[in-house]
Amino acid sequence: PTGRKFFLGGNWKCNGTQDSIKKLVDDLNEVEFEEDVEIVVCPPFLYIHQVLETLTKRIDVAAQNCWTGKGGAITGEICADQLVDVGVKWVVLGHAERRHFMGETNSMVSRKAAGSNLTNGVVCDQLQALVSKVPDWIQVVLAYEPVWAVGTGKSCTPEQAQEVHFSMREWIRKNISEDVASYVRIIYGGSVSSSTCNGLARQPDIDGFFVGSAALNTKEFVAIANSVK
Ligand code: G3P
Repeated sequence: PTGRKFFLGGNWKCNGTQDSIKKLVDDLNEVEFEEDVEIVVCPPFLYIHQVLETLTKRIDVAAQNCWTGKGGAITGEICADQLVDVGVKWVVLGHAERRHFMGETNSMVSRKAAGSNLTNGVVCDQLQALVSKVPDWIQVVLAYEPVWAVGTGKSCTPEQAQEVHFSMREWIRKNISEDVASYVRIIYGGSVSSSTCNGLARQPDIDGFFVGSAALNTKEFVAIANSVK
């Protein structure tokens, strides 16, 4: 045992309507998850309130993004303090899709990570940009998502993913600290499904998953949660 609690993030991305999200939450409320898994779902901003109001399971809610600093005259953005205000404890930062479609850079992502104490769920493949900015690594979960595997149905093999997770942990050991390397959770994302999760979950440096399309199907999501080692 690594001492790191298995983490499962369900990223709903820009999917859903009030009705389909009601159905997803009803399904989540009905199923049984393994005790040893920490579960967080990431609805689109508009539906966060609905999910917080109706989810009765021990599942936390994350936002998919937030502004780099305090609120104010920044039309169309949501800041971390506002997320905290409504009870959102996690935020996804630096997702590959935001880098691709919105042009987010490492420097923007690291400013977001530094911007508040809500630096909880950080998706970042460029660790260097974060090193001096993250206020408290205990609040961070790192996700490794090879872009070729996101939404493509092609997942990394367990060995390929383990190799990268291992090097990320080694990098953290050398550049941050031994301590952080031992507790920080590094999760894998990219076409994770009920058929690929078990082999991946058995790898020593894979501490959970960040799931996209399979998170919209509760049966799949539960099977992935239950791959906890
Ligand atoms: O954030 C998780 C994600 O990018 C993976 O998406 O659909 O390949 O599981 P998917």
